[in-house]
Amino acid sequence: MSSTGNTVSSTGNTGGQVLILLGPPGAGKGTQALRLAAECEIPHISTGDLFRHNLKEGTELGKKAKGFMEGGGLVPDELVLDMLFDRVAADDCRGGYLLDGFPRTLPQAKALTKALENQNSKTLLLEVPESVLVGRAGGRLLCKGCTNIHHAEFSPPQKPGICDSCQGELYRRKDDEPEVVKERLKVYRKETQPMVDYYRETGSLEVINGDQAPDVVFSALKEALVGGGC
Ligand code: AP5
Ligand code: MG
Repeated sequence: MSSTGNTVSSTGNTGGQVLILLGPPGAGKGTQALRLAAECEIPHISTGDLFRHNLKEGTELGKKAKGFMEGGGLVPDELVLDMLFDRVAADDCRGGYLLDGFPRTLPQAKALTKALENQNSKTLLLEVPESVLVGRAGGRLLCKGCTNIHHAEFSPPQKPGICDSCQGELYRRKDDEPEVVKERLKVYRKETQPMVDYYRETGSLEVINGDQAPDVVFSALKEALVGGGC
């Protein structure tokens, strides 16, 4: 089932926990989500990855999202909501799932809250100073073959240009150009920060210091999940 024009859909979830990982561009959402989803044995659902897949495949959705993404803006809510609710209605999400990069606006958060009514969920925010974020995006290297994430300085591949996990070719995201990163950070402050405040006001937001070594951040995230478990 999908949702058009902010109509709320079923999430397809029947009991497992839904983890919601928030944070600005370059905070380490993808890096941590890969590990956390593997640890908790739930699917990792990144709206950014879903859009990049659509872009690569040249789908209608990809064509619609392209300009927004490459300019550092947000893809319109109705496109995001349709894509997301379709994805989480799939069978593999029945036991829970991890959201990375969704929600990112107040309407997205409200649609998700409504869809998750009576379901177990946990919202985690990775906080990282803006000065650090710029360097993280600037050095990021992504794999063409899998979703693994390297960094030229902080997490360099063993062989230059080659992914440690699958030996795929590494590439830089177009939206990691300095000017686009600046715009993405501006958009985060304007569009996403009010949504973070909405979660903060509910009293259920767990804030994690993302400006630490990846292993330390991972332990803190696990600790924030009850008793260090999923
Ligand atoms: P998306 O792909 O979600 O990008 P983002 O939110 O801007 O976040 P990033 O992926 O850039 O950063 P990250 O937090 O995942 O960091 P990472 O782990 O890679 O979205 C892209 C675009 O799609 C958006 O701009 C928008 O246009 C569109 N879009 C997506 N979702 C949308 C939505 N819901 N609504 C509307 N539009 C949407 O880490 C970054 C680098 O730092 C890596 O190189 C990594 O190795 C390194 N690193 C990570 N952790 C550490 C650490 N602890 N110490 C040192 N280095 C680290
Ligand atoms: Mg990411």
